[in-house]
Amino acid sequence: MARDGALYVCQSCGSSQNKWAGQCPGCGGWNCLVEELTSRPPGALAPSKATKMRGLNFETLESETPSPIRIATGIEEFDRVCGGGIVPGSAILVGGDPGVGKSTLMLQVVAAAAMRGANCAYISGEEAVEQIRSRAARMGLAAAPVKLAAETALREILDGLKREKFDLVVIDSIQTLWSDAHEAGPGSVTQVRSCAGELVRQAKKGGAAVILVGHVTKDGQIAGPRVVEHMVDAVLSFEGERGYPFRILRGAKNRFGATDEIGVFEMGDSGLREVRNPSALFLGEGGARAAGSVVFAGIEGSRPVLVEFQALVAPSAYGTPRRAVVGWDSGRLAMVLAVLESRCGLGFGNRDVYLNVAGGLRVSEPAADLAAAAALASSALDVALPQDCVVFGEVSLSGDVRPVSRMEARLKEAAKLGFSRALGPCGPEGSGNIAVSRLADAVRRIGEEAWT
Ligand code: TYD
Ligand code: MG
Repeated sequence: MARDGALYVCQSCGSSQNKWAGQCPGCGGWNCLVEELTSRPPGALAPSKATKMRGLNFETLESETPSPIRIATGIEEFDRVCGGGIVPGSAILVGGDPGVGKSTLMLQVVAAAAMRGANCAYISGEEAVEQIRSRAARMGLAAAPVKLAAETALREILDGLKREKFDLVVIDSIQTLWSDAHEAGPGSVTQVRSCAGELVRQAKKGGAAVILVGHVTKDGQIAGPRVVEHMVDAVLSFEGERGYPFRILRGAKNRFGATDEIGVFEMGDSGLREVRNPSALFLGEGGARAAGSVVFAGIEGSRPVLVEFQALVAPSAYGTPRRAVVGWDSGRLAMVLAVLESRCGLGFGNRDVYLNVAGGLRVSEPAADLAAAAALASSALDVALPQDCVVFGEVSLSGDVRPVSRMEARLKEAAKLGFSRALGPCGPEGSGNIAVSRLADAVRRIGEEAWT
């Protein structure tokens, strides 16, 4: 029997039940319901005050000092993803796989902000102060006036933050914090939710921006911290493929900026280095391109970026051919394959299909359809595309190639990197550009070896 006011909260999906059960009715997980007390004892409530209303038009009351618009760290790749710097009093969740470099990035961010005069604190529940210091020294940040603490008890952190006015506070990580108001262990949904809630409330009240670091599980979901997503103003994910030094910071939610911006970094011996021109990085090796390799002229956020799409179409040894894709959507791959089969006469029925986006980038633009289709056709026909050609365009189910946004910008970036031709939808005319309105025309052009 549940006690009065007790709720059982699933630690993996966050759904709550009145009764304990071995299996969560919400997500089907086993042994993940944990009791959580919801009602406070009578008399424990603080007396309430009427909420204060303010004008939308930035009028300030006498009791308030106008706040600076944004804290720019000077790390441009980070500032841009935040929408031009960190908004004072905002809460940001930074998620990523363990070891991807979240702590490294956060240390660089607080150090950079501190060097520009912001009062910054870095609170780690994972490392000792000495460890953080020695890492900072190795990264050349020893001179930055950042305040450090190694602490996991929420109440002590909150007391510490009340004592001094901070502009930016990093909590690394939210999964290590615990509040003695709950019995659940650190990292549980109850703890993560309540600790994040308290910190966000404190941030809004005290004016300090709070960055919460959260670890992600294998399936790409921010475990535990997922329940925090709705509380924070921005969710940034820090991604990187194993074996590549490149790291991409991506906005998943941002109340103060666009979410399609990416920041590109390279992990080196002394921390993360900004990559201002990511095209060169995602292009793979230079030199002659093999069949199946196509350069896509894409747009990531506000920037044009060239990316290499690699496809391999090979006879299948098994009854059910394989379809594997890295860096692109598998549903989109199935669609492009179906259009190539039914509108262009290319058969993939008994062939394995592999598609890879070089450099560990994940592309989500529809404009990549034609690049993927061209890579697949190029591999299937065993014909390489000309070395100086980029590809972009959206492909519809009817086999049409549709115009995409910002074609001029794509062509300009391509020209800057020595690509003088483009295969794409009708649009801006340029010398040597091949405009196609049907996917079948594009495939026919690729098949005509004469054009190379
Ligand atoms: P870290 O920031 O601790 O990852 P996270 O906080 O996301 O778990 O980064 C750990 C990895 O980064 C580790 O494998 C070592 C590497 N690294 C470098 O290559 N160079 C550096 O200067 C630093 C600080 C870390
Ligand atoms: Mg860390």
